[in-house]
Amino acid sequence: MEPGFIEGIPKAELHLHIEGSLEPELMFALAERNRVDLPYNSVEELRQAYQFTNLQSFLDIYYAGARVLLVEQDFYDLTWAYLTRMQEQNVKHVEIFFDPQTHTERGVAFSTVIEGIDSALKDARREYGISSYLILCFLRHLSEDDAFKTLEEALPFREKIIGVGLDSSEVGHPPEKFQRVFQRASEEGFRRVAHAGEEGPPEYIIGALDLLGVERIDHGVQCEKDPELLRRLAESRMPLTVCPLSNTRLCVFEKMKDHNLKRLLDAGLCVTVNSDDPAYFGGYMNENLNAVQQGLNLSKEDLVELVKNGFRASFLPKTAIESRVQAVDEYASKNP
Ligand code: ADE
Ligand code: ZN
Repeated sequence: MEPGFIEGIPKAELHLHIEGSLEPELMFALAERNRVDLPYNSVEELRQAYQFTNLQSFLDIYYAGARVLLVEQDFYDLTWAYLTRMQEQNVKHVEIFFDPQTHTERGVAFSTVIEGIDSALKDARREYGISSYLILCFLRHLSEDDAFKTLEEALPFREKIIGVGLDSSEVGHPPEKFQRVFQRASEEGFRRVAHAGEEGPPEYIIGALDLLGVERIDHGVQCEKDPELLRRLAESRMPLTVCPLSNTRLCVFEKMKDHNLKRLLDAGLCVTVNSDDPAYFGGYMNENLNAVQQGLNLSKEDLVELVKNGFRASFLPKTAIESRVQAVDEYASKNP
């Protein structure tokens, strides 16, 4: 693999929590701007705290960090910083998660959150040519009622949001808890995705498919424990948005060489590579692709397939998917 192949290839990202792209430097700048106290004295001290043992140990720090986001400009700056990185990394299309409850719980208005994010997405379409969609995630550790309330709050902004997802603490919060909310979201015309099988069992993936009606599974790496499910995912080409650096940083796999991404790809699943919470896990799209390429000794064909899957599994219109996939093929044939 010649240097620069991964960096230059046109890519899509489908699993990115915008709050998880908050770099320590911006967190400190916003804390100062908004006069929010941080329990760390420096950027270095904050980075030192990023030593996670599981999903919950990360979520505790991630929700604490989001407290610096208060006004529309903060959400704009956060989103713009991420999109500027994506432009530098040749990412052409992004589907971004946001967690409104993390903010509305603190008294920040839903409109403040979405207007800030949406203006940055619009500017990036114009200035960088990056296409984008926004996916509202319900926090699964909160109640069904709270999720319904959040869905209601989203309705006035219907045209800015393509779909709904489900994130936060997985184990103990199975998909059935949100079956009725997802049903309602579907009736409102929202596309559906859900985190499932990150730490939780294969049954949660089956629940996401059968009870929530999702079109993609976020993470899904625990599917390997159930051979019948594995076959089902392969046959249906149900996309998995896999996040390799996230999985190693949260100890889902001990080392990158232990990750099952290559086995899933070889089993015929529609696997994509994504960054999840890049500011916390040590890398954006290119760093994730480089890490799996090296850790799993991926061939150029594997990489091209992963990147094409990113566009195929997106919510872009069919014609846009076809032209994006073709652009990847053209890049690969010019860089053999
Ligand atoms: N929220 C942000 N990142 C997450 C992850 N990896 N799993 C569940 N919820 C999240
Ligand atoms: Zn995630």
